[in-house]
Amino acid sequence: MDTKRDTKLDAQQYYEMGTEYLKRKEYDKAIEKFSTAIILNRVMSEAYFGRALAHYHLKEYDEALKDYTKALELDPKNPVIYNNRGDVYYKKGDLKAAIKDYDKAILYNPNYMKAYYNRGLCYASLEQYDKAIEDFTTTIQLQPDFAEAYYLRGLAYEYSNMFDEAIKDFEKALELDPMFEEARQHLEAVKAKKAGGGDSSSGQGSGDVRVIKDTGLTFKDLAGMEKLKEELRQAIIYPMENPDLAREYGVLGGGGILMYGPPGCGKTYFVKAAAGEAKVAFINVKLSDILDMYVGNTEKNLHKVFETARKHAPAILFFDEVDAIGGRRDAGGGEAGQALRSAINQFLIEMDGIEANNENVLVIAATNAPWDVDPALRRSGRFSRNIFVPPPDFKSRLEILKIHSRKKPLAKHIAWNRLAMLTVGYSSADIKALVDKAATYPWIEAKKTGKKRKITTADFIRASNEIKSSLGPWYAQAKKKLGKKKEVMYIDGKKHEKEIESDMDPEEKEQFKQLIDIIEKNNKWYVKAGIAGMRLLAKYAPIPF
Ligand SMILES: Nc1ncnc2c1ncn2[C@@H]1O[C@H](COP(=O)(O)OP(=O)(O)OP(=O)(O)O)[C@@H](O)[C@H]1O
Ligand SMILES: [Mg+2]
Repeated sequence: MDTKRDTKLDAQQYYEMGTEYLKRKEYDKAIEKFSTAIILNRVMSEAYFGRALAHYHLKEYDEALKDYTKALELDPKNPVIYNNRGDVYYKKGDLKAAIKDYDKAILYNPNYMKAYYNRGLCYASLEQYDKAIEDFTTTIQLQPDFAEAYYLRGLAYEYSNMFDEAIKDFEKALELDPMFEEARQHLEAVKAKKAGGGDSSSGQGSGDVRVIKDTGLTFKDLAGMEKLKEELRQAIIYPMENPDLAREYGVLGGGGILMYGPPGCGKTYFVKAAAGEAKVAFINVKLSDILDMYVGNTEKNLHKVFETARKHAPAILFFDEVDAIGGRRDAGGGEAGQALRSAINQFLIEMDGIEANNENVLVIAATNAPWDVDPALRRSGRFSRNIFVPPPDFKSRLEILKIHSRKKPLAKHIAWNRLAMLTVGYSSADIKALVDKAATYPWIEAKKTGKKRKITTADFIRASNEIKSSLGPWYAQAKKKLGKKKEVMYIDGKKHEKEIESDMDPEEKEQFKQLIDIIEKNNKWYVKAGIAGMRLLAKYAPIPF
């Protein structure tokens, strides 16, 4: 009798030692002690549980599974053991088995927050978002300050295309944890998706044209671009504000604008902000979505798009990446070429219809490869205004830096001017990437040390080592397409080099003059050297804060 009690006591002692090692994260030693405890007491459920946990931390999932199962044989109504075994199944990728265990955990403890959270994760991984949302909602009810639960529910909403709900959750997650970078990124992504009419692959070609009432952006979100803003005000906002006056003077909203310029410098962003600013309906069309293999369908799709815009006038009808037509046309002659020609004709007819009927539909097309836009479209005159969207200048860069830092935890003094200098030659998208990068340094530190600090000028400068301008390849491409070319000819066996004009005829070159000027300027050595010098200065001046 006595000896038996002694051994039991020993098992308990070994168990406690094991737990101590577990706390210290010395898992191998913990396993040793738990094993001894188990030898001394074969029915000690806690010891199996402890050993399972140690195995789990060592990623020895099969062993962990065995021990949890044994623990459950001995203690079959223990929700924690079910929950933990569920985690092992989850890690092993057996989500269905995991869900079964979480079900049990919840059965034996209906307020088991972690089990709901974990089951939600499983459902989300299985793309059963409605169930995931339900579980995360319960999680939040049980622990209302759980930022991650909001974030995950937000994700489930995002993947279910419920953008408003997703935005709310990401915002809440950020409110609870301002350094929650993933939440911030998704918040912005969803806002953009919402503005862009959701998943573009949803195929406008086959079905509905999506009309967006509010893009969620206005001119306030837009740095610089003053000339463009004014142009747009004249084109659509003023005529709408006072339609009678506009009519009296024969000014009407509508017509066509072609925007071109390097990638990531704000064409798409501007149009979305303009639609939001003007509070008009916004229809975002990707040409790749309406082009259809079947003859006749592309025209039908185009017609439907214009029809929808008319119905919702005043409206901005936005054809993004309008070079898709030209690119494809090059790809094939024959039948495909024929189909494209009729598509372009249809496009021109629709544009004419809008002009003729003085409809308040502004058609904006955008491209970063104007040389690929079908010449028939370029030369038609339907796009009476041709606007170059350049890379941001100093003042714009300054503002873009500030706009995209707006919701981030910044140190009191940031050397904005220097950062604007540092980012010379960057596209707007590059600058945004730089800001996001800068925020990750204090965030990673906070994750590691638990101490939060603000983003400083030094963080931005450090980020500039990783995020560089992405425009180089584009300039090279533009130069190839628009600049002068050398043609090599052999006459009577002798080599002759002749400088010829680019693919565009002189009239067209006039149209894209601004772009050509900028390319030429950017390819001059002293400009390049100047830019490099400016960046160096900005980088190595002493950092005040
Ligand atoms: N004027 C601006 N103010 C603030 N942010 C801007 C501005 N212009 C661009 N951005 C930022 O840069 C990102 C990229 O811009 P956008 O997608 O509009 O480029 P784009 O010119 O349409 O490029 P692409 O030719 O590749 O389609 C935007 O999502 C936005 O975050
Ligand atoms: Mg774009």
